[in-house]
Amino acid sequence: MYISLFCISTLLSVSLRAAGQTSYANDFIDPDFIVAGNFPPNTGGAQTTITAWARNLASRGPWSVMDKQGIPPTGNKHDYLSWAPYWWPDCSGVGNTTALTEQEIWTTCPYRRRDGQFNPDVRTVNDIGNFQELSEAVLYNTLAWAFTKTPSNENSQNAVRFLRIWFLDEATRMTPNLDYAQMQRGPDGQVGSSTGVLDLKGMTKIASAILILRKGQNTDWTADLDAGMVEWCQQYIRWLETAEQALEEASAENNHGTFYYNQLAALKLIVNDNEGAARVTGAYFSGQYQSQIAANGEQPLEAARTRPYHYRAYNLAAMITNARIEKYANPSSTVWNRTSSSGGGIKAALDHAMRFSARDSDEADYAAELYPNIAAVGSIYGDADGAYVAYLKRADPGFSVQPYFLWNQPFAPGEGRALPSARTTASRASATRKSSAGSSSDDDSEENAALSQLIGSNFWSTMRLSLFALSVGLVMF
Ligand SMILES: *[C@@H]1O[C@H](CO)[C@@H](O)[C@H](O)[C@H]1NC(C)=O
Ligand SMILES: *[C@@H]1O[C@H](CO)[C@@H](O)[C@H](O)[C@H]1NC(C)=O
Repeated sequence: MYISLFCISTLLSVSLRAAGQTSYANDFIDPDFIVAGNFPPNTGGAQTTITAWARNLASRGPWSVMDKQGIPPTGNKHDYLSWAPYWWPDCSGVGNTTALTEQEIWTTCPYRRRDGQFNPDVRTVNDIGNFQELSEAVLYNTLAWAFTKTPSNENSQNAVRFLRIWFLDEATRMTPNLDYAQMQRGPDGQVGSSTGVLDLKGMTKIASAILILRKGQNTDWTADLDAGMVEWCQQYIRWLETAEQALEEASAENNHGTFYYNQLAALKLIVNDNEGAARVTGAYFSGQYQSQIAANGEQPLEAARTRPYHYRAYNLAAMITNARIEKYANPSSTVWNRTSSSGGGIKAALDHAMRFSARDSDEADYAAELYPNIAAVGSIYGDADGAYVAYLKRADPGFSVQPYFLWNQPFAPGEGRALPSARTTASRASATRKSSAGSSSDDDSEENAALSQLIGSNFWSTMRLSLFALSVGLVMF
């Protein structure tokens, strides 16, 4: 069960990438950097990409917990719900199955695990995928607005409307708890799992956006909305700090623990409790972090998993996010210099992860997950020997038009000239098209296919983005 839950969020990322947009595992973007708006000229391509992603994502919204077909055990659709994906009903001992409604099957038939077999009905309760899209739509639309240095524009109106619909409007709001996240169905189930807390890891993206709207004095983000959001987050923080399944997740030793602290610290920033945020990340760096990195930079708990390349990158993104939040909440923090009990640190963990090829462990689909981490580490510790830029030039030749390049500054200041040539961009665009069209024949087979439907892979937006990438390439040269 543990494994299945890890997969769902990573497969969501892969599917979003196939739809022409990469979903970063996690990130926190310093709102002061964005609001100041002093972006180096070589980030123009990244800004254009962000604006295109914002438009593409906005066309798919709004999102609400009311969109799902399944109903949580409370009978209240406002309650967040997601189902454990590899479990199937066995109604053989439950009498007249033809007379059972779907809802009765979910509650009366025992559910049994079929390893690696994704139950497609999980799609009908897509709060998880909807929240992920929401968090990214809100973030990219907020960034796209911030570039314009105006009090409001269509992007910020979208971001604010999406926030209002998911969190605040009476008719569509989510109840501030995850009681039914990654819920087991059947007569003995009907309760959420601790691992389901990971479903809302995108709260760091939402926090980044809200802080940018607030500090950038966006006129769509009214005092009423801000107060409503603060109240929602205070209630949800209470749940994260007291509910049994949340506390179990807080003590998870691996990436689940790391992401729990991402989420809680981000929420503290939303409720204007910077000290509280730094306390939360401090607890992580004195806690789980201590045993997550070996002296040589290996992350033993992640390396032991079925997809070691992915899990190293995944936990790194969460570690970096915790460090980013701490440094923002407490500028005098020396968090980037913190070492684990065996003397490892974030930079060592990245350097070690870079030694592995995704292809070697049959994880080619996950290769891009490491790239934002490389830029993030390079922007903090520098790139004295040029190893980080060299890696990205080889692995992700268009990296300077990727959104992560914008907020990972200063990184590779001379890279303005390294923008992809029209030819490279065109071949990347055609690779994107291919991966979209061929997503059902991926190695990851049925799970991947099921999840790309879950996310709603969108061929036309891929085409639009590909054309856009082409035109960026042509304009640059
Ligand atoms: C099973 O349920 C159906 C639909 O309610 C009903 O028509 C049928 O007679 C039932 N069969 C048995 C054996 O109870
Ligand atoms: C780590 O600590 C040293 C010494 O205090 C300091 O010069 C350096 O900037 C710190 N590194 C980071 C990444 O904060």
